[in-house]
Amino acid sequence: MGETKVLQVSAQNPDSQIIEEAARILQEGGLVCFPTETVYGLGADALNPEAVRKVFAAKGRPPDNPLIVHIATDQQLLDIADVVPEKGNALAEVFWPGPLTLVMKRTILISDLVTAGLDTVAVRMPNHPVTLGLIRTFDAGVVGPSANISGKPSPTDAAHVLEDLRGKVDLILDAGPTEIGLESTVIDVTLDPPAILRTGGLTRERIEEVIGPVQVSGSAADLQRSPGTRHRHYSPRAQVILVAEGDELALTHLLKAHRQSGRKVACIAHSHSLSKLESGEFFRMLPSSADFFARYLYRTLRELDALGVEVIIVESIPEIGLGAAVMDRLRRAAAS
Ligand code: TXA
Ligand code: MG
Repeated sequence: MGETKVLQVSAQNPDSQIIEEAARILQEGGLVCFPTETVYGLGADALNPEAVRKVFAAKGRPPDNPLIVHIATDQQLLDIADVVPEKGNALAEVFWPGPLTLVMKRTILISDLVTAGLDTVAVRMPNHPVTLGLIRTFDAGVVGPSANISGKPSPTDAAHVLEDLRGKVDLILDAGPTEIGLESTVIDVTLDPPAILRTGGLTRERIEEVIGPVQVSGSAADLQRSPGTRHRHYSPRAQVILVAEGDELALTHLLKAHRQSGRKVACIAHSHSLSKLESGEFFRMLPSSADFFARYLYRTLRELDALGVEVIIVESIPEIGLGAAVMDRLRRAAAS
């Protein structure tokens, strides 16, 4: 593939000519990266196996990790999901468009390539005027994994997409930084109670307000069900080490030990007590609100990678609200 075109587009008032150009590329089997409220996605025609194959190739994604199909209207759901369970329907009604992905039985229109051979399909209606406009104009489902090289933190900015996928996609729609900064919550509604397979932008608390108790995955059997969670994920190049919230002693000790071994060490913290210990080029203070921490986490990890940092020590945040998804991503990064 040749050049990657980047077009800036207003998030609130997208230029219809740009949307039409993007839809044309999808119709021709090309790849278009699009903004969402969570992270940027790598889009292709969900019903075109050649285009879907290109998505896996561009990301270097293992073929056993299925893709989310993005839709813009309730009608489009009927082409993709064979059965919409009652609780799935209730969630869609309250939270779509939004940071929630529903796993449901699939129709025969959806190929094995998209679902990695599963009999279910993941569907989401993203809450972003640019991408809703694109999918409506294209008039069919669009696969959309996060627009990063497989394993890396998801892109929260068009510049991150370009960094990972330059020359591998036809077009990037740049609508500025994403709002949430973490991926959508994935919930399997074929089960009762439904099971959260990936924590994300919609909290468990808000889901349970609508459909009552849910299960949260974690067992080996669950990992089979959510194939994506088996793979290395959300990780910067640098080694990630987690310390407890406010743990000055652990931070001091780790900084010293790693520096003595000659490594370039960075720190991401949110407590003021920790910021007194450290400052300088590789120290990043994030807001202590979980929502803001989530918004800036991936960009901070990428930024530190670009500086050639080898170790990133991260202060934990409470697992309340979006804090649960933040800590899930940080634990995965620390484990890899
Ligand atoms: O916020 C998001 O969800 C972003 C934006 C672009 O929409 N997309 C995203 O896609 O994060 P991706 O491909 O990076 O993550 C999709 C997750 C993976 O963990 C995958 O394994 C899971 O959804 N998934 C997809 N289809 C599934 C299925 N049929 N059953 C279980 N898990 C599935
Ligand atoms: Mg991803």
